Amino acid sequence: MNAMTQDQQKQAVARAARDFVAAKIAAGAVVGVGTGSTANFFIDELATIKERLAGCVASSEATRMRLEGHGIRVFDLNDVAELPIYVDGADEIDAGLMMIKGGGGALTREKIVAAVAGTFVCVCDQSKLVDTLGRFPLPVEVIPMARAYVSRELSRLGGQPRLREGFVTDNGNIILDLHGLSIADPVTLETRINQIVGVVTSGLFARRGADLLLLATSRGVETINRRSEAATIPS
Ligand code: A5P
Repeated sequence: MNAMTQDQQKQAVARAARDFVAAKIAAGAVVGVGTGSTANFFIDELATIKERLAGCVASSEATRMRLEGHGIRVFDLNDVAELPIYVDGADEIDAGLMMIKGGGGALTREKIVAAVAGTFVCVCDQSKLVDTLGRFPLPVEVIPMARAYVSRELSRLGGQPRLREGFVTDNGNIILDLHGLSIADPVTLETRINQIVGVVTSGLFARRGADLLLLATSRGVETINRRSEAATIPS
């Protein structure tokens, strides 16, 4: 049998997430939806069970538009009392289900939706599972007037910040991508970055990691629970 391509893996994990949502939610629930290419596959799968949902909360304008394109109602997060499940991808995830996110620039809204959600389901292909976070440049959303100051402060943490050229977030801010990290203590680094004045948030999801990882591998989709034995990188 031929090995699955990366897109086929994303499709498979999106379908598994759709099945998970279908099994777990009560009729009329609202589901949180992330951003990125894997999240897009999930949105397309979610459309097949849309009658069972009241609607969704979107973590970006791109996701809002894709959901609405399927005729799925998109709620303002402030109007939602309960969000049982949030489904999103990641740029990197480790065995403790801590993540780097924000490659698509939606990190702040993603972090807000994740904070509200009961269960965070991360959907990834196996290329995203790492031993140590940091090879993927860590995105940091910054208020534009604080760019130079925040760059200097981030440099003091040991990385090399680079402005994401020509990019403005959905919140009207800029992104500094922090290169050259090997993150030994993600919780401490998340806290230190978030304390820099002018930072909106970082793409380090350590304090609120995922609860469940649906990982697409060449052998199929594996389910890894945060509280279960540490994940191993599939060969
Ligand atoms: C969006 O800002 C990101 O956090 C994405 O969730 C992440 O980059 C994963 O995207 P892909 O599924 O496209 O790899």
